[in-house]
Amino acid sequence: MTDLKNKAAKKSGFNRRDFFRGSGAIAAATALQTQTADAFQDQSPQIISGETTITLNVNGKDHQVKAEPRTTLLEVLRYQLDLTGAKPVSSDGSSGASTIFVDGKPMTASTILALQAAGKKIETVESLGGDAVQQAFVKYDAEQCGFCTPGFVMAVRSFLNKKPNASEAEIRSGLNGNICRCGTYANIVEAAISVAKGGN
Ligand code: FES
Repeated sequence: MTDLKNKAAKKSGFNRRDFFRGSGAIAAATALQTQTADAFQDQSPQIISGETTITLNVNGKDHQVKAEPRTTLLEVLRYQLDLTGAKPVSSDGSSGASTIFVDGKPMTASTILALQAAGKKIETVESLGGDAVQQAFVKYDAEQCGFCTPGFVMAVRSFLNKKPNASEAEIRSGLNGNICRCGTYANIVEAAISVAKGGN
């Protein structure tokens, strides 16, 4: 089994260990969390207790939801709005599986409180429709269990929005805040490269 894995890694020239070594995944995850914290620093402190009804703008529509001070945005998205694309893999956001856009920036929904998200423009993977990134993931078979996939799709979309013609090295570096336990990095990078080259 180990030989088979080694052969596969040799063939693709890329394996799980290379990904972690080369990418600094932990550092990037920390950067994403810092970005999340910074984005909410301008909100003035308020004392709120118990359940509150708030309006969240998600995928272009306003939704009335109920949230306690401890309720995360991820919980509201999944359990009240039935938007289950963002996944509850890591409460500290280190997996990147709950990546969404808040006011156009990639952030992890597991590290944002629902109350903090009121007044922000929230976009989930469900908003992408038939986006080229999604199509490329299908074409290049860029998933196994699929648990990390929505987070990766959002991360790739966000990165290519910033750098539409990104090189392979830039893509590898730009995706290092997301982790795939199944090790499908080679196909994910291939899918992202194809979109950067104008195809899918
Ligand atoms: S495909 Fe299973 S975690 Fe990425």
